[in-house]
Amino acid sequence: MPPVSPARRANPPGPTVLFRPECVASMLEARGTVAGRLTQPDTGAFVPGMAYAIRIHRHGGPDCLVREEVSVSEPGPGEARVRQRAIGVNFIDIYQRTGLYPLALPAVLGQEAAGVVEAVGSGVTEIAVGDRVAYAGLTGGYTDVRTLPAERLVKLPMGIDDEIAAAIMLKGMTAEYLLRRTHRVSPGEAIVFHAAAGGVGQIACQWARALGATVIGTVGSPEKLDVARRHGCDHVLLTDASLPARVRELTGGAGADVVYDSVGRDTFEASLDCLRPRGLLVSFGNASGPVPAFLPLVLTTKGSLFLTRPSLVHYVAARADLVASAEALFAVIRAGHVRIDVGRRFPLAEAARAHAELESRRTTGPTILLP
Ligand SMILES: NC(=O)c1ccc[n+]([C@@H]2O[C@H](COP(=O)([O-])OP(=O)(O)OC[C@H]3O[C@@H](n4cnc5c(N)ncnc54)[C@H](OP(=O)(O)O)[C@@H]3O)[C@@H](O)[C@H]2O)c1
Repeated sequence: MPPVSPARRANPPGPTVLFRPECVASMLEARGTVAGRLTQPDTGAFVPGMAYAIRIHRHGGPDCLVREEVSVSEPGPGEARVRQRAIGVNFIDIYQRTGLYPLALPAVLGQEAAGVVEAVGSGVTEIAVGDRVAYAGLTGGYTDVRTLPAERLVKLPMGIDDEIAAAIMLKGMTAEYLLRRTHRVSPGEAIVFHAAAGGVGQIACQWARALGATVIGTVGSPEKLDVARRHGCDHVLLTDASLPARVRELTGGAGADVVYDSVGRDTFEASLDCLRPRGLLVSFGNASGPVPAFLPLVLTTKGSLFLTRPSLVHYVAARADLVASAEALFAVIRAGHVRIDVGRRFPLAEAARAHAELESRRTTGPTILLP
């Protein structure tokens, strides 16, 4: 049995809140750690049923993120316990931290990770103990070990290591559905992709180019121009007032077939102005804030435009779609069409620093956390 600390007696294990943050420091001193995991002081063995996690108890800035000890349930029917080796950081983590996308609190942040299956519950057929797996879209990823629905896990093939997997599951499957299902990008089309040097941007721009499109990427600062150029963009533009005119120049006056806009409030109008008549605006994020209300008539006056506001969750809801999306992603990486350059790595305990860097636009490519 693991030692029972005074903090544990005051806060018996349960599915959610376990320890008050002020208790955690003394507990961590009382127990050893190996690579940031809870270990028993005498044997050095991992403490069963417990994990380190990064949680929020209120919405706000990066300082809301606190490292705490949480319980991990034994896998029930249809569940698996995964020892996580790398965890992806995504802009949605920031929306959830700030409350733009509110969560029931306290909450462990994080949507994607890769690791090894340690145990499975009854009825699990998709994966087995010892498999390398990854997932996206399951809130609670900022932890070293967790129990999850097995049907949301995808087996990792050779050639996709843990860090790459943690960097691509959410961002790469997003690129997959945006380019192949929201709109099927075809050879000869011209697309505009905002935040082209970012996590989703680097994957999507390389993939779109492999599909034969002319890729016009946008970036927010001159130092990112080259990064975007090296990740699939035929042309890279700064997101300033000249953007629609520059896009028209590059498309022989026609305008782009599709604009993929994850920046939101700051670029929405310009994105509409970049499109050809009957072009499609795919508004899929709010990095600068949500797009304000507007009149649908605007779409008519700007050329009978189409607008969609998709989310990954609806494109991988069925297991068959999840597996097909992940396999398509693994295939373009293994074929060398999409190169994954992990931009920044932080220890899990420094998740707050990772958030501060991502939201202040100082990162390029995917950011990961290492437990
Ligand atoms: N709907 C979906 O299914 C779905 C799924 C995944 C991701 N997303 C969205 O895709 C976007 C990219 O996600 P990511 O995790 O890969 O992040 P990211 O692109 O690595 O980072 C966001 C980028 O947005 C740009 N940006 C523009 N204005 C900004 C502002 N005011 N504050 C912060 N950033 C700003 C920055 O690039 P520049 O400096 O170059 O402008 C920044 O690097 C996010 O908006 C996310 O919500 C949507």
